[in-house]
Amino acid sequence: MCGIIGTIGYPDAADALLQGLRRLEYRGYDSAGIALQKDAGFAVRRAVGKLNALAGVMHESPLHGTTGIGHTRWATHGEVNLANAHPMMSGDRVAVVHNGIIENHRILRDTLTAKGYQFQSQTDTEVLAHLFADALDHAPSLMAATEVVIAQIEGAYAFAVMAADYPDQLAIARQASPLAIGLSDDAMFVGSDAIAMGDVTQRVMFLKDGDYGVLSRQDVAIKDAKGQIANRDVTIVAANPGLVTKEGYHHFMEKEIHEQPDTVMHTLGAFTDADGAFALPQEVNFADMTGLAYLAAGTSYIAGLIGRYWMEELADLPVVTEIASEFRYRHPSYRQISLAMGISQSGESLDTLMALRYMADKGVDTAALVNVETSTMAREASGYLLTRAGPEIGVASTKSYMAQLTVLLVLATVAGHQRGILSDKRRLEIEQMLARVPRLIGEAMAATSAIKQIVPRLAQARSCLYLGRGTLYPVAMEGALKLKELSYIHAEAYASGEMKHGPIALIEDGLPVVALLTDDEHLLKSISNVLEAKARGADVIIIATESAAQKARDEIGGLNGNIITVPDCDALIAPMVLSLPIQCLAYMTAVHKGTDVDQPRNLAKSVTVE
Ligand code: M6R
Repeated sequence: MCGIIGTIGYPDAADALLQGLRRLEYRGYDSAGIALQKDAGFAVRRAVGKLNALAGVMHESPLHGTTGIGHTRWATHGEVNLANAHPMMSGDRVAVVHNGIIENHRILRDTLTAKGYQFQSQTDTEVLAHLFADALDHAPSLMAATEVVIAQIEGAYAFAVMAADYPDQLAIARQASPLAIGLSDDAMFVGSDAIAMGDVTQRVMFLKDGDYGVLSRQDVAIKDAKGQIANRDVTIVAANPGLVTKEGYHHFMEKEIHEQPDTVMHTLGAFTDADGAFALPQEVNFADMTGLAYLAAGTSYIAGLIGRYWMEELADLPVVTEIASEFRYRHPSYRQISLAMGISQSGESLDTLMALRYMADKGVDTAALVNVETSTMAREASGYLLTRAGPEIGVASTKSYMAQLTVLLVLATVAGHQRGILSDKRRLEIEQMLARVPRLIGEAMAATSAIKQIVPRLAQARSCLYLGRGTLYPVAMEGALKLKELSYIHAEAYASGEMKHGPIALIEDGLPVVALLTDDEHLLKSISNVLEAKARGADVIIIATESAAQKARDEIGGLNGNIITVPDCDALIAPMVLSLPIQCLAYMTAVHKGTDVDQPRNLAKSVTVE
């Protein structure tokens, strides 16, 4: 899931490419590079690390030209070093930037080595560069060479290629990884998404899987997977809001945590009619449904787990929430599934996209719940719903998750009403409840003073457990995921009741156990589970609504400062309100440890490889 960008004809190509890469850095930040056409070859700059490292190199040693390609890398094949940074070259004949994985690269590498090509990197991408050089020896055009190359490669890819023999053209292709073309009066662009080209054009052509072609300064020639000339529509995308800034916050994540009340308000606004009643932007007939599948990855999967509790409780509609990367490979039974919904902030996660395609192939209706309207999932699914979180820059999902929860609760309520499970009165109660969430999560942010006292201890831990029951079990999972990805502390979540079936053996003196509590039907049982952990030496940290916290104090005792409280709320919306302190706990622990909060190691914002 790297980011690629290219241009032909732009007066200051180096600047356009660097700005484009800044917008693509969410796709990976292990290394970056740019190559520009120069004389009969290329001028190349590369740097290991975040984009600022490349910007530094280019400042020291500027590039000038009108045609070039750029790349920001998330390493798949080969370690993070300069040799493995793109663009990949075949001598001074070919330069390639690639996103995806060439699955048969080993066989191709052997064949090319036998032909005398020398490999400088460990990447799968380098085979593309040499394959092009090889094809160009015989092919009559860059388009024909592209056809020769894509006939040999297997896997997922989006690439842009410069060939010294064709200085006025760029070869491009996509298969399972996203690629868009940007058109302007004097120049042509290609990028992993429309946002990458937002500074330079609003006219964008989204390629379909299997598309390939050749760009020149004023022309686009595209063929489809069958080799037929393809005309892809030009879409006018929304004016680019400009690069998002931290607006005084220390990190994007901190800012995004604080934006959550607004996020819920905006998202609710888009799902509410003039009378304040929940309304979907598109008609969905839940009444006749026999089952729903929520397919997603990471935090979006966790949102889908909470959505499942809601949908089954409020609408009596069976839901399977599945990790997308597992789903299609286990040959799931789909006959009872009326609608498969992909949940994804980016709308680009390849695992989720593939799971949706799998269901579409089986004839199941598909929908996407995404935060990016121009994303592949939004374009491919039969329908889509848009969360209104705005651009999320921090790699750790916060506000997009909150927006997903908002929509999932709206969906469950609308479904419950349509299916005759919820009365008008109950529906109204839930509408009013959700309308209070922005205020409640705003107030929940005040819990940071209690969190501050806990952070130094948690930051010392090597391992940590999170416990929850009901909808708070997925919230515990989200807490553990956030702590892992931000502060690199091993953390696991368990359903509280499951502890005694094995995981309780992990508890030893001082092991932090974060327990989530709300005043629901499980409260006393959950408190018993906490007591069981405490009796075995756990360093118990309670995150609870006010009244649940009071009961915990009464029953458990000796908790001193180890209680983080949020305002009381109905148990239905407790997963939203309690998500705030778990995000803050992970954020503040990471800050305390000094990790890279917005761009944690080994991660990328959008995961477009399997
Ligand atoms: O864009 P998506 O929602 O499809 O992304 C899914 C996951 O990659 C994402 O939620 C990831 O787990 C985040 N880093 C979690 O904070």
